[in-house]
Formats: sequence, structure tokens, C-alpha cells
Amino acid sequence: MKILVTGATGGVGRLVVEQLAGAGAHVRAVTRPPGRPGLPAEVEVVEGDPSRPEPLAPHLDGVEAVFLHSRTIGAAADRLLALAAQRGARRVAALSALNVDDPLHLQPSRWRGDRNKESEEAAVASGLTWTSLRASAFASNAGQAWGAQIRAGDVVRYVYAAFQESPLDERDLAEVASRALLTDDLADRRLELTGPQSLSHAEMVDVIAEVIGRPLRFEEVRPEDLSRHLIGIGMPEPFVRALMDRYTHYAGQERHPVTGDLEKVLGRPPRTFAAWVADHAAAFRA
Ligand SMILES: NC(=O)c1ccc[n+]([C@@H]2O[C@H](COP(=O)([O-])OP(=O)(O)OC[C@H]3O[C@@H](n4cnc5c(N)ncnc54)[C@H](OP(=O)(O)O)[C@@H]3O)[C@@H](O)[C@H]2O)c1
Repeated sequence: MKILVTGATGGVGRLVVEQLAGAGAHVRAVTRPPGRPGLPAEVEVVEGDPSRPEPLAPHLDGVEAVFLHSRTIGAAADRLLALAAQRGARRVAALSALNVDDPLHLQPSRWRGDRNKESEEAAVASGLTWTSLRASAFASNAGQAWGAQIRAGDVVRYVYAAFQESPLDERDLAEVASRALLTDDLADRRLELTGPQSLSHAEMVDVIAEVIGRPLRFEEVRPEDLSRHLIGIGMPEPFVRALMDRYTHYAGQERHPVTGDLEKVLGRPPRTFAAWVADHAAAFRA
């Protein structure tokens, strides 16, 4: 079975490629820069930009399923899926997000160009058998947000110690994506995929401390101070503003929702945040 994977060189895409190749599928991986950046030898690499899908049309011949990655697709999700359907594709798994129905100004990722809402909507409207993967916050966000501070010292300065997420291990997300691409088991469903626990920022830092075996202290800072720092190191201001708005808006919620969708699909509980940290401890070690 031939499967086209967009976003194949990224955090989620690489894991999806690994799952599919491991299951014996023929993976056609789309990447913008020339070359084959670290993809397994058995994967067919196609140079292209999913947000300009027309030149990719010949590479959709023989493709049975498409992994639609919401960071790569820009305004072209519907066009890519129409081309895939014309050439005989049957299935699409769309990367989306648990917060996709929130007001757009509380979805910071939109300011990075991510199109989770459009990715899901295009999949639903495509006429293909679709699955929307509404992912909660990735466990790897912790490495991106706090890795540098923890490698450099024992204090994590960040906003809202009590803010809750249900961190999702991207390996679990990729397993579900692979199931949705290879079978009809998850046809026409919006899956709400979370980790097994709701954890506050401070609790996540406690888990990291425990796993890496070093005391860490969470020091809450004001949103305006973190914003200044993040903009100072080059993050786009609208993204930072939306991130702080989201934190501020949801800071008071008691527990972040944990759903049972992932366990129902995979027949086992989701991986814990502690397991993710243990397997990525290098992100926090000096
Ligand atoms: N982080 C979270 O908590 C979370 C939760 C739910 C949903 N999501 C969604 O998941 C997606 C992120 O997944 P990820 O971590 O796998 O992404 P990623 O690794 O940053 O990017 C995936 C691939 O997309 C291409 N890409 C990166 N930036 C691009 C851009 N500006 N325009 C076009 N292509 C670009 C790159 O491929 P090439 O260079 O090879 O072309 C990259 O390897 C986002 O859409 C996000 O909204 C994230």
C-alpha cells in the first residue's frame, strides 16, 4: 500500500513514516528542501511543497492514503485532497488539534501558519474516508519551552505554575495516525487524543526533576516578562501574544480534559509524560 506523508521530516511526520514503514507500507515522503534528510532508506522521497500541491499531482498516482500535516498545508488542504481523490486515493488522516474549536485568537499555532482547523475541514469535505487527529499539547513542548533552562540550571522560569495540559506523546499520535492510514477502523471520526494525565506546568517540571534525578524549582514569572524575553529571542510577537492569551484564558481551569480515545484505539493506556521524559532525557541534561 502506497501512502503519501506530508510534513515527513518533522517531529510527528518522522514517527508516522517509521510506523508505516514498519508495517510494510510503501511511504512516499514529501519534503521541501532537496535531499533526503535522515529518512529511512526504504522511503521514497519526493521534493515538493504541500501548500502548492499542483506539481505534486504525478506523485499522487497509486497513492491509497494521505497524511495531511497541518503545518505544511497552508491554504491548500482541499486542493491537495482533491488531486489525491482524482487519482484514486481512498483515505486521509488529518493532523489537527484538541483546541481546534477554540476562538482562533486563542490558538497560538495559527500565527506560525499552522492550519489545524482547515486540515480537519478539508479532510471531512474531501469525499475520502477521513480521520481527524485532534491532538492535545505534545510532550515535546516541554523540551522546547524548558530544555535550555534545565540544561543550564535548576530553576524553570515560566508563566502560570497551575496551568494544566494533558501532554501527548507524539509516538502515540503516530501510532493512531498509522492505524487511520492503513485501515478503515477509524473512518469518519474526530479523535480527541490526549496523554493519560492532566498535569500543571509545575507538576510537569516535578516529573522532569524526578526522572532526570535533579532537583528543579518552578519560578512563576509574569506573562509580560516572559513575552518580552520570547520576543527578544526572536519569536514573532503575535504568536507570543496569543500564547499568553491562551494561558491567561485557561489558567483557572481545574483539570485539562483527559479523553479515552487513544486507549480505545490502541487497546492500551497512552504513554505517560514521565515515560516521554525518560526517553528524551538528553533534552534536559547538560
Ligand atoms: N505542539 C503541540 O502541542 C501541538 C498540538 C496539536 C497539534 N499540533 C500541530 O502539529 C503541527 C506540528 O507538528 P510537527 O511538530 O511535526 O511540525 P514540525 O516538525 O515543525 O514541521 C513538520 C514539517 O513541516 C515542514 N514545515 C515546517 N515549517 C513549515 C512552514 N512554515 N511551512 C511549510 N512547511 C513547514 C518541514 O518539512 P520540510 O522542511 O521537509 O518541508 C517540517 O519538517 C502543527 O501544525 C501544530 O499546530 C501541535
